[in-house]
Amino acid sequence: MRAGPPEPARAGKLDTVMELKGLVLSGGKGTRLRPLTHTRAKQLIPIAGKPNLFYALEDLVAAGIRDIGVVLSPETGEEVRAALGDGSSWGVRITYIVQEAPLGIAHAVKTAQPFLGDSPFVLYLGDNLLSGGIKHLVAEYRQTQPAAIVLLTPVDDPRAFGVAVLDEQGRVVRLLEKPQNPPSNLALVGVYLFSPGIHPIIEGLRPSGRGEYEITEAIQGLVDSGQKVIAHQVRGWWKDTGKPEDLLDANRLALSTLVRRIEGELQEAQVVGEVVVEAGARIVRSTVRGPAYIGAGALVEDGFVGPYTAIGKNARVVSSEVEYSILMDEAQVYALPYRLDSSILGQGVVVDGKGNARRHSLQLVLGDRSRVRL
Ligand code: TTP
Repeated sequence: MRAGPPEPARAGKLDTVMELKGLVLSGGKGTRLRPLTHTRAKQLIPIAGKPNLFYALEDLVAAGIRDIGVVLSPETGEEVRAALGDGSSWGVRITYIVQEAPLGIAHAVKTAQPFLGDSPFVLYLGDNLLSGGIKHLVAEYRQTQPAAIVLLTPVDDPRAFGVAVLDEQGRVVRLLEKPQNPPSNLALVGVYLFSPGIHPIIEGLRPSGRGEYEITEAIQGLVDSGQKVIAHQVRGWWKDTGKPEDLLDANRLALSTLVRRIEGELQEAQVVGEVVVEAGARIVRSTVRGPAYIGAGALVEDGFVGPYTAIGKNARVVSSEVEYSILMDEAQVYALPYRLDSSILGQGVVVDGKGNARRHSLQLVLGDRSRVRL
């Protein structure tokens, strides 16, 4: 009997048995981003025209990871599923895992344990952005197979972060979650690589003072049992988009990497620098100064879109000026008397300033379908 070609799914599976899996956390409460998170998952807020979560997924894909679990909350799970689908658009397989309550990052890993099995894995917080990607970390993990690799970056106020203390060889000796008196300024970034040895340690954790199962305590458990925890400093920039000002900063950083691409229509328009104008968008009697992103079907008419601004699909900027802002899909601004600056407008928000003279500036954070009359 002649052997046929190997069945593709099978062959893939055999190759990836000891491969790293990915685990992206897209649950949580997102309280610091209210009102935006009243109506959407914070991980789906667009950064430079693309949901935050897609960046995490793309980093995993670029590092060769094909089997990816996504942790969901019961409240926002459905829209995250709808955004990612089965993963086939990225050539990956996505398994969804519902975490009934946001009891901490280590709890999310515990919930995902049946998916993770005995595989090493990359844990990627779905609201984090990393310019340098994770390819080099995955390569290093494959080579050295430590208990964990953590990523660190110096921060101004370490009290808001998990903080690491290193020895002279650069190995992690101590980790603290949001310490009042930080022993170092090295904050843990939301990307970690773990061996399956993390699971028994998570099993033994108790909730912390703030009622969460802390991943920092689990890593401390690895250190305490003499296992190798390697630390790396972030290459390029890193952003945790927990607060509105972080979203705007992440948008700025992501826009800084844009390459000019004009597929929409320009009429009497001045489009300067690194600007993307998607198909179906129209720029009419207006200036767009990059870096900026104009989504499909959007309209900029008699207006100005300034640097570090991203405008969503079918959004409108009419007789108005917008700078350093995020306008989500279908958001509309008309005849604003002030330049809109450092603002985030949710989906379908309408800000209508007809009748006012242009002066000063406005700073707004508006949830989906808000309406403002000036
Ligand atoms: P955090 O930003 O620490 O928590 P949060 O989303 O609840 O936000 P806030 O503090 O504003 O209320 O979470 C980091 C990432 O991990 C984020 O993408 C959400 C995710 N997460 C889970 O999936 N499950 C959890 O139990 C927690 C705490 C976070």
